Amino acid sequence: MSQTETEKPVSSVDCAAWRVSVAPMMDWTDRHCRYFHRLLSPHARLYTEMVTSAALVHGNRMHLLRHSAFEQPVALQLGGSEPAELALAARFGEDAGYAEINLNVGCPSDRVQSGRFGACLMREPALVADCVTAMRAEVRIPVTVKCRIGVDEQDDYHDLQQFTAGLVDAGVEVLIVHARKAWLQGLSPKENREVPPLNYARVYALKKDFPRLCVVINGGITSDTAVIEHLAHVDGVMLGRAAYHDPYVLARVEHALYGEPLPERDAVIERMLPYIEAELAQGTALKHITRHLLGLYQGLPGARGFRRVLSERSHRSDAGLEVIRAALEQRHALLAAA
Ligand SMILES: Cc1cc2nc3c(=O)[nH]c(=O)nc-3n(C[C@H](O)[C@H](O)[C@H](O)COP(=O)(O)O)c2cc1C
Repeated sequence: MSQTETEKPVSSVDCAAWRVSVAPMMDWTDRHCRYFHRLLSPHARLYTEMVTSAALVHGNRMHLLRHSAFEQPVALQLGGSEPAELALAARFGEDAGYAEINLNVGCPSDRVQSGRFGACLMREPALVADCVTAMRAEVRIPVTVKCRIGVDEQDDYHDLQQFTAGLVDAGVEVLIVHARKAWLQGLSPKENREVPPLNYARVYALKKDFPRLCVVINGGITSDTAVIEHLAHVDGVMLGRAAYHDPYVLARVEHALYGEPLPERDAVIERMLPYIEAELAQGTALKHITRHLLGLYQGLPGARGFRRVLSERSHRSDAGLEVIRAALEQRHALLAAA
């Protein structure tokens, strides 16, 4: 018998663990970025970039799954639509120590569509349910889904409600919803993050209709005050671009939600140094880490000087910690001169 929301036993996950999170972002939320974000936010749940199940099953698994215990709680986001392959990939993720497996049902890129996964899966709720069922049978950590409010002409609340009901029946306890639809033809992924209008009310309505489901809202949320406003309606808020371009917003959110003292930005950089030193010793190029730090002083005097030194000098093959010290000094010199 199909489980309905009312028959479902009380959720086994604690929605509080999803109160604030940083979105999966390809090419951005790699392990270095997550380490940095963790320094700014002890509580935020962090997500990897999307990794395809095929890459995990057939590719360099060790490399793809690499992360530090310091990043925890960190969720592995998978892309795929083959239940057996996703289940195996989920197992690899759990064995590697991830705290959650998240299925991407929101990415609209052509590459992803040709692989029949991402946002186009919103049109195939039964297949998504099969994928989730197969993954849940394989792992004990939560299996969650990240989706859109709609795709193409499948764009009214009833469709989203039906889609969600199928997930809940398959045992999904946490749903992250990017509060705008995706156009699968004609818009680039970037345009699909900007052009379709945000519709937060639709996500709030889901929480009303599925009270036991942990509902996390995503899309266009950029400040601690906005986070608090959304939390009056849903269980969690996921920040994407704002957390990347202005990472200190994570510290403000942490302060607002958990009362953590606001850290000095320079002290955050200092706390990155031992990590960077260890990474350099293992052959990581400085630029792969420093590119994530560029926005730390966003909006403050001297921010541009800091960014300039980091971007101009990190790409040299022998670049080391002295570049970061020089960037900090440059900023202080600009401040003193102002
Ligand atoms: C550079 C970039 C890469 C992204 N990659 C992914 C991804 O791998 N998986 C995913 O589910 N969403 C991805 N997204 C979408 C974000 O997770 C998020 O849903 C979207 O940016 C809306 O949130 P925001 O307005 O807070 O940025 C990406 C977004 C950006 C900007």
